[in-house]
Amino acid sequence: MHELEKILSEALNQFAVTENAVELEQVKARFLGKDGHVTALLKGLGKLSSEERPVAGARINQIKQSIEKALQQKREALQYNLLQQKLKAESLDVTLPGRGMGYGGIHPVTRTLERIEVLFRSLGFSVASGPEIESDFYNFTALNIPENHPARAMHDTFYIDEKHVLRTHTSPVQIRYMENNDPPIRIIAPGRVYRCDSDMTHSPMFHQVEGLWIDENVSFSVLKEVLSDFMQCYFERDDLQVRFRPSFFPFTEPSAEMDIQCVQCNGKGCRVCSQTGWLEVLGSGMVHPNVLKHVNIDSEKYLGFAFGLGVERLAMLRYGVADLRLFYDGDLRFLKQFN
Ligand code: DAH
Repeated sequence: MHELEKILSEALNQFAVTENAVELEQVKARFLGKDGHVTALLKGLGKLSSEERPVAGARINQIKQSIEKALQQKREALQYNLLQQKLKAESLDVTLPGRGMGYGGIHPVTRTLERIEVLFRSLGFSVASGPEIESDFYNFTALNIPENHPARAMHDTFYIDEKHVLRTHTSPVQIRYMENNDPPIRIIAPGRVYRCDSDMTHSPMFHQVEGLWIDENVSFSVLKEVLSDFMQCYFERDDLQVRFRPSFFPFTEPSAEMDIQCVQCNGKGCRVCSQTGWLEVLGSGMVHPNVLKHVNIDSEKYLGFAFGLGVERLAMLRYGVADLRLFYDGDLRFLKQFN
């Protein structure tokens, strides 16, 4: 029995000084392995008498269990130490600033919108807005667009339900503003509009800026002057040639489309202007008396003009972007060029 105690205390001592898992397994083999001390004792049981054997067997098993228990404890202690070391070595300071954080920038379309707003503000316009889900009445009827007008056809318009659409233009803001404000009125209404259309120069969502000036003496010549001034400032070209072509919009009479000299080729003719030397940039006209009637403005006393321009189009021309979809791809290589 004395020998058993010695084996146990030796095993415990050896476990205590063991520093890693490999050593521990070696120590284990020395005691519990095939040729280990405990195994040898068990093998020796055969030589004992049948009276001595059960007592000795039980005692050896006790020692074996004690050694196994100590082994398990040591294993866990070593694992715990290893984990602590790892945690210490790989500690992460979550309060450190991130590496390589990029700076945000203003989107080219937003940049263009801001530029348009600044220029019109300098011409005495203030900024108004309206909802993007618009009633059929504001989007069409109040703008003198009759029931059977092609603009109401499904292929242009996203219908929400029978009576509501995603606004197809910013013109309904004219109506909403005139309902709540008396003349004189001088506003622009920038915002998103929606049409069921998508190609190199069309996107189902795009931006327009509507303009409206109502007063007692706002003639067509004021319209021409304001819009010419604006285009010259926007493109930073005092000598930019412009022209107005007769056109049709239900909410203006007379109506005109405005062209500017092609900013790519200076009017010589190129791919951007389809060899014409001119670029169409907006629709405009004198507000139709029927529109004023809808909002109870006396068309005998007041008159005014309105216009609507496409923001993406102006951004494309200013920055020389050929495909409108680039604005919405979210490709940083493209977007970074504007900041
Ligand atoms: N709302 C028209 C469109 O989306 C643009 C427009 C043309 C607006 C003439 C106007 C205007 O205010 O007078 O095509």
